[in-house]
Amino acid sequence: MRLKISLLKEPKHILLILINLIVISLLLLCVLCLLNMVTHQELVSCVGWTTAEELYSCSDDHQIVKWNLLTGETSQIVKLPDDIYPIDLHWFPKSLGIKKQTQAEIFVLTSSDGKFHLISKLGRVEKSVDAHSGAVLAGRWNYEGTALVTVGEDGQIKIWSKTGMLRSTLAHQGTPVYSVAWGPDSEKVLYTAGKQLIIKPLQPNAKILQWKAHDGIILKVDWNSVNDLILSAGEDCKYKVWDSYGRPLYSSQPHEHPITSVAWAPDGELFAVGSFHTLRLCDKTGWSYALEKPNTGSIFNIAWSIDGTQIAGACGNGHVVFAHVVEQRWEWKNFQVTLTKRRTMQVRNVLNDAVDLLEFRDRVIKASLNYAHLVVSTSLQCYVFSTKNWNTPLIFDLKEGTVSLILQAERHFLLVDGGGIYLYSYEGRFLSSPKFPGMRTDILNAQTVSLSNDTIAIKDKADEKIIFLFEASTGKPMGDGKFLSYKNEVLEIALDQKGLTNDRKIAFIDKNRDLYITSVKRFGKEEQIIKLGTMVHTLAWSDTCNILCGLQDTRFTVWYYPNTVYVDRDILPKTLYERDASEFSKNPHIVSFVGNQVTIRRADGSLVHISISPYPAILHEYVSSSKWEDAVRLCRFVKEQTMWACLAAMAVANQDMTTAEIAYAAIGEIDKVQYINSIKNLPSKESKMAHILMFSGNIQEAEIVLLQAGLVYQAIQININLYNWERALELAVKYKTHVDTVLAYRQKFLETFGKQETNKRYLQYAEGLQIDWEKIKAKIEMEITKERERSSGSQPTKSTGLKH
Ligand SMILES: *[C@@H]1O[C@H](CO)[C@@H](O)[C@H](O)[C@H]1NC(C)=O
Repeated sequence: MRLKISLLKEPKHILLILINLIVISLLLLCVLCLLNMVTHQELVSCVGWTTAEELYSCSDDHQIVKWNLLTGETSQIVKLPDDIYPIDLHWFPKSLGIKKQTQAEIFVLTSSDGKFHLISKLGRVEKSVDAHSGAVLAGRWNYEGTALVTVGEDGQIKIWSKTGMLRSTLAHQGTPVYSVAWGPDSEKVLYTAGKQLIIKPLQPNAKILQWKAHDGIILKVDWNSVNDLILSAGEDCKYKVWDSYGRPLYSSQPHEHPITSVAWAPDGELFAVGSFHTLRLCDKTGWSYALEKPNTGSIFNIAWSIDGTQIAGACGNGHVVFAHVVEQRWEWKNFQVTLTKRRTMQVRNVLNDAVDLLEFRDRVIKASLNYAHLVVSTSLQCYVFSTKNWNTPLIFDLKEGTVSLILQAERHFLLVDGGGIYLYSYEGRFLSSPKFPGMRTDILNAQTVSLSNDTIAIKDKADEKIIFLFEASTGKPMGDGKFLSYKNEVLEIALDQKGLTNDRKIAFIDKNRDLYITSVKRFGKEEQIIKLGTMVHTLAWSDTCNILCGLQDTRFTVWYYPNTVYVDRDILPKTLYERDASEFSKNPHIVSFVGNQVTIRRADGSLVHISISPYPAILHEYVSSSKWEDAVRLCRFVKEQTMWACLAAMAVANQDMTTAEIAYAAIGEIDKVQYINSIKNLPSKESKMAHILMFSGNIQEAEIVLLQAGLVYQAIQININLYNWERALELAVKYKTHVDTVLAYRQKFLETFGKQETNKRYLQYAEGLQIDWEKIKAKIEMEITKERERSSGSQPTKSTGLKH
């Protein structure tokens, strides 16, 4: 990825064009130089976008200038009085869900005279408020536009209403506060205090977080609402990335000059850094994509356009620098797609070196390449290309325009914009638009939304412990609208992609970095949430089968069959592949898991491909089409314990006990082989089913199966076998049968362990009852015979199934 820079100085002057100018921007610049442009004569202190094509800039020459990038015109909006030196500008947030025609109408301008001003789009100063003694160094609206925070040379942090009424003085610092940012929930404020960063909640008496962040005065901060990460820039010539707990994630090398500006792209994937004659584009993990040396002086302020495709910088030498992001890359199998210009993509098929050029009417904003389709959103339209045919894309108009996220599944894809979440088929048909109360789509990203053929999962921001689940085709909440709620905050979610809808699983990482798996079908009895791993930083499901991989502490782990936890948790470790991953250093991220290739981006930005064994995927395929003999043959051929362990779990999950027996034998689990053997000999299919469920630890379900089949004695017996004495007696009493059987086993149990009966209910029922083992054995024998006769057809030969 690169930045393509254009610098506009005075009218009718040669423009400084710094790096490989491309035709489009050349044209744009030429148009600009022919126009009667107004530009600044002095230091530009701040800039702010109204739309993706329109920018306002303020300067020490007291002018506020509007830049229209489509027509190339600039115009003076207003000339402020000579005593007002603008310092910071922030547009009132565009309300969510409102069409793009409605633009932000006012902005706040802070100035050196201790005031802030609310100024309309047309340049009318609606209100000027005395705010601080000394200069007001920064002013920011919160995300909802319900409050404004200002900070000043006087060291005060003040909160104002939308109309500029003082609400509170949040804090007093001994030193000037240079920069301020709202937390994603608009309930906390981050500000600078010398070398320290402070996060203070608005709520009185709430805990303050403070840490030393730099070795020099901190000049700028920014806090992204999507990834919740913090940027800081200082006079120590470094920029740093922090999480919202103040933990350091990245620190740059010292530069030659102080870092004067930092700014997150709206989607939190990139950020820009400004310094003296320096503009940098960085990935959210801190590594630098591009470094440019424009003739700007110090860049005091950077603003990203709303669609995240370009930036503007306020330059110390009176320039406004524009740059847009190009050369983004997408890869899938043998295809490489590169955004070469703002409206052009190049597709390269690495198999035959064929190159296709894709031209778009408008600027490309987002793209995604997966499942044999390239989905591109421009400022007005969505294009869908099949990798089989690059010439005839399907094109449809977008509702709002600025798509912030594209997610793909095999069947359909999802577009997220400021107003909503929209699911489309690859034929361009609108399918659904899931919603939940208080939904904020501006903060969703690939970690908080997940899509499969049948399900859309969304992690909520208002309550981070909740995951909303929707039926993809209708956009309706799953089941009876029960969402998944967990005891901790959830950081990242991912749906598996294959298999039946009823088996759909979701994996998630909680704030302790523990990895869990659970079923998305939440009706009826709540599915268990089971832990799969710890210290997991990033995860991905394979696109071809339900294999999960993740980076766990310093290891790369593949869960070849995560479902194992539902079947036989003991053998989970045997179904894993692990290798050392310390070579990936800090904060690696799994970019994709396509086929058996995992792509990891390291902290330095380089991509590493890991190939995992192809055999587990083949095993998944055999099992999904019930080719058990092929599956066994494959395991014999591969001769790996992991394969046999996966097969064992897969066979139990699919109740193929013959295969399970072979597989368990191969991994030396002799106890299990014996148990499976005993299951095979059970007299009815319900009993077999119940004991398979018990084998997987699903006692309650096993009991339900038996009771529904009228096998009350068998249901009582499984509880006896598990020493669930209360339940055994409860069932016997409820169904008025085998009370004596339960009492007899209980007595035998107590005798074996040399204990006295203390349980009240047992004491009550035991009173006056004479245990007659002969009678009980006869009754049991009868039950078994009855069961065997009932289930006609394939009749087992023995009936030694139940453990006594
Ligand atoms: C997902 O949808 C695609 C296209 O409809 C279909 O070919 C594929 O089999 C589906 N996969 C699953 C697991 O349902």
